[in-house]
Amino acid sequence: MKLRSRAAHASALVAALPLVAAAAAPDVAKGKKKFEGICVQCHRADAEGMPGMGMDLRTAPLVRAGSVGAIAKFIATGHTPTEKFPLGMPPDGGESLSDADRADIAAYLKTLAE
Ligand code: HEC
Repeated sequence: MKLRSRAAHASALVAALPLVAAAAAPDVAKGKKKFEGICVQCHRADAEGMPGMGMDLRTAPLVRAGSVGAIAKFIATGHTPTEKFPLGMPPDGGESLSDADRADIAAYLKTLAE
């Protein structure tokens, strides 16, 4: 009886392992590095924004209220040009990013949200 329940417990643990791996937490430090390599040209260091180039992301509605997933999706899509920002935002900021890169960057942005 005792042995069987221990075995059941062990197999439940093993079954849960792949889920844990798939949902690995985004890496904020990596996200910061990527942001500083790509996004600063329009959003500046610390995401404070630049007139005519990119908005202040610290107070941006999506960064404040959106999930990491929603922000990652925006990064992949970018934004069409507007009157205020005539260059718009190219998908992935003009680079090519993986899903993990976007999640890392989104998690980093969440740490800056005010
Ligand atoms: C060529 C300039 C440019 C680059 C490069 C750029 N962005 Fe943007 N980004 C913009 C502009 C412009 C907007 C605002 C669009 C609008 O709403 O008018 C924006 C908006 C955003 C928003 C949406 C905020 C909100 O609340 O709507 C996020 C998030 C964002 N950028 C993240 C990034 C990240 C992360 C990178 C780097 C991978 C990046 N951007 C690179 C120009 C840029």
